[in-house]
Amino acid sequence: MITIPYLTALSTYFSYGLLFAFGQFRDFFRKIFDWWRSSDLQGYAPICLGLEDFYTRRLYLRIQDCFGRPISSAPDAWFDVVERYSNDNNKTLKRTTNKSKCLNLGSYNYLGFAAADEYCTPRVIETLKKFSPSTCSSRVDGGTTTLHNELEENVAAFVGKPAAIVFGMGYVTNSAILPVLIGKGGLVISDSLNHNSIVSGARGSRATIKVFQHNTPSHLEKVLREQIAEGQPRTHRPWKKIIVVVEGIYSMEGELCILPEIVAVCKKYKAYIYLDEAHSIGAVGKTGRGVCELLGVDTADVDVMMGTFTKSFGSCGGYIAGSKELIQYLKYTCPAHLYATSISPPAAEQIMSAIKVILGEDGSNRGAQKLARIRENSNFFRSELQKMGFEVLGDNDSPVMPIMLYNPAKIPAFSRECLKHNVAVVTVAFPATPLLLARARICISASHTKEDLLKALEVIGSVGDLVGIKYFPAEPNKLQKEEGMIKED
Ligand SMILES: Cc1ncc(COP(=O)(O)O)c(C=O)c1O
Ligand SMILES: *[C@@H]1O[C@H](CO)[C@@H](O)[C@H](O)[C@H]1NC(C)=O
Ligand SMILES: *[C@@H]1O[C@H](CO)[C@@H](O)[C@H](O)[C@H]1NC(C)=O
Repeated sequence: MITIPYLTALSTYFSYGLLFAFGQFRDFFRKIFDWWRSSDLQGYAPICLGLEDFYTRRLYLRIQDCFGRPISSAPDAWFDVVERYSNDNNKTLKRTTNKSKCLNLGSYNYLGFAAADEYCTPRVIETLKKFSPSTCSSRVDGGTTTLHNELEENVAAFVGKPAAIVFGMGYVTNSAILPVLIGKGGLVISDSLNHNSIVSGARGSRATIKVFQHNTPSHLEKVLREQIAEGQPRTHRPWKKIIVVVEGIYSMEGELCILPEIVAVCKKYKAYIYLDEAHSIGAVGKTGRGVCELLGVDTADVDVMMGTFTKSFGSCGGYIAGSKELIQYLKYTCPAHLYATSISPPAAEQIMSAIKVILGEDGSNRGAQKLARIRENSNFFRSELQKMGFEVLGDNDSPVMPIMLYNPAKIPAFSRECLKHNVAVVTVAFPATPLLLARARICISASHTKEDLLKALEVIGSVGDLVGIKYFPAEPNKLQKEEGMIKED
């Protein structure tokens, strides 16, 4: 639940209203012009949207220089952002050969494995030479190398489950596994802020989908009770299966899942629990084993553990870990296992090497240092931002920390001003967030040094003053804070 100050909400609505009105006005003239030109192929429906893409054309295009900025180096603490220019008011952007070295506050490089690493990189290069970039085959054909078998064993042992299966992409892990786990007559109960890959998997499964209020176990319980009492639509037969899907750390909010309570509710009603640890595996917990370790939940109580290798491990791909029976079943039935080319061998090696470093099996204590560092860095950065008066979402220990911007004009202003001072930030707005709740999302890394963080704070602090996003001025008076707020779910 985010509380928006009245004035901010009002001015945000006003800004969107203005953009909308101008956009409609321009669209009106475009329509007349298009009708007169009438260049569309006769008899065909438009292949791209006609006027439906209003948001893209009239709002996104104006600030598209803030998105998809080309990078020409590894996503380390500092990286090279390629400069672009435009001759048509940013409608199209052209790359120059110039680049600026920027502090990277956007990548999911939580443990710093995304750039050259003294342990991982030489092994990845060896694997590249021995196995090549691709297996050019699916897992059941020629695409299972010894690396793939080892990786699955290592991942299962790391997350604390009997078995695991890996896929070449994290997104596909969710979107292809959910339809295998559940189908018509089943019920998926999904957190309202779950990632798009989960939404897409749940929809593709043809199961009934119910949403519960973000991270609210009491509402989950209410939905479960109602649904179990109601049963399937029309027939009222009992649900064939119920799966509750949650995330470990919510990627747009930086919030930790209230897992112990959610697990308790699921146990009470005999619903399976599916936990997406994309952002939490490797990043939190004493030995990097994710939210179960951090919050003291027994992994035996989480039926399906999903995660990605694209964040803390600095690689690509995703995994599902669970019982031996579950994993065997997925290996027989999951189309992404049967019909998609297996994960790239160097990527697999990167994951295994990163796990070895995290566990100290490389013979150093770098893993433990990284884990201590990500936690210290995150908590330091979060508390400093809060002290400066920013509205920062999320929980302590989470390396993801969104800074609320709200107003659409503040999205490009914040992003461009930071970039001018060589700080690269990611801004997120509708449709990734609700319309009113645009934000900048900072991702802290173990590879950020204290100087890096201080520089970032200095720049963000002064840009924050300039753009006017210090919604909670220092030492907020609690009473004052609570007056004049509206609630937005
Ligand atoms: C919660 C969650 N699940 C799944 C994914 C998809 O993973 P990938 O980017 O590895 O495809 C993401 C990506 O950011 C995510 O945040
Ligand atoms: C285009 O983008 C640049 C930054 O990349 C910005 O300074 C400029 O104001 C933008 N122009 C328009 C018309 O939005
Ligand atoms: C690259 O940067 C230099 C110095 O800032 C500038 O003079 C030059 O015009 C830039 N080149 C391009 C292609 O933008």
